[in-house]
Amino acid sequence: MQNLKFLGTGSALPEKVLTNQDLERMVDTSDDWITGRTGIQERRIARDDVSTSDLAAKALSVACENAGMSPSDLDGIILGTSTTDTLFPSTACWVQERLGVRGMFAFDVSAGCSGFLYALEIASALMAAGRGRRFGVIGAEVMSKVVNWNDRGTCVLFGDGAGAAVIGPSDGDSGILASHWGANGSLAPCLYQPAGGTQRPATAVTVAENLHTVHMQGRHVFKHAVEAMASAALSAMDQAKLTADDIDLLIPHQANIRIMEATRQRCGVPSDRMFSVVAKYGNMSAATIPIAIHEAAQAGRLQDGSLLLTTAFGTGFTWAAHAIRW
Ligand code: UT7
Repeated sequence: MQNLKFLGTGSALPEKVLTNQDLERMVDTSDDWITGRTGIQERRIARDDVSTSDLAAKALSVACENAGMSPSDLDGIILGTSTTDTLFPSTACWVQERLGVRGMFAFDVSAGCSGFLYALEIASALMAAGRGRRFGVIGAEVMSKVVNWNDRGTCVLFGDGAGAAVIGPSDGDSGILASHWGANGSLAPCLYQPAGGTQRPATAVTVAENLHTVHMQGRHVFKHAVEAMASAALSAMDQAKLTADDIDLLIPHQANIRIMEATRQRCGVPSDRMFSVVAKYGNMSAATIPIAIHEAAQAGRLQDGSLLLTTAFGTGFTWAAHAIRW
């Protein structure tokens, strides 16, 4: 176990709300379908002039403020995202530029919806190895700019936002009790953005064919998400010698309430111990878990000593879970 603590958390959400009723006017869908299949009622959409680093920088500065420190005090910034500001440099470097800080290392983690938990795993390992004391860990996305707004199968699912945490050393017994992470690249084409990288650089054809947007085999993703999120969470619980009764709060990746519920049931955690923001924000990929953690902490659902179980699944496929003593 590493003695680390969440010193502060923060979030940033665009003001614009897009409801299911708004979507009914945009594509052939219904509030009933979206609510019944996903649990999502509304989501936030970033303005045209807002990029992922804007939301990430805001979330990180709130987290630093709540930790009683300045972003310049951080030893490193690790950011999970699939919707980078630019192909290079990393969005974490743009965050430094936005915040006016420099010197500390900064890089992105590309692990889709598992991005925040991957970033947390790396930060905790660096801390355990003595490679720094305070790290800014962020999950941030502007999914609305990579969604095909004519594809009802995907455009109703996603939203924009950023969540951040500052982690640092702890004198007490808080920390990451156990973790589990993994990936299966053979399933990469089940959920991806086909063009814009070196496989298919941007051309007039890739733009005309909408290849710069989310392509997803929904049912396939659903099935693997439930299996991987539950088994990663159970592995973390098992390693930490915890039973479902010990878990005070479950924060799964918030893609779809049915996936979250199925994961919760497989882990045996009672329904009143699962924290959900999916109805109001939709699937914000790497941002969902840190935003949910921040809102749970603000709501008093995470107290010193609370046992938090997180689990995520995303493009790659990737998965990760942590058993955390708050
Ligand atoms: O964060 C990780 C990444 N993503 C996910 O975790 C998403 C995982 N997948 C899912 O959440 C679900 O698969 C969806 C919510 C995307 C879809 O739910 P589903 O129960 O798997 O539905 P489906 O794709 O099998 O589609 C059922 C029907 C189809 O019509 P037919 O072929 O049965 O006539 C779709 O065309 O629903 C239709 N449909 C819609 N109808 C109204 C698909 N999208 C919509 C829509 N509104 N927005």
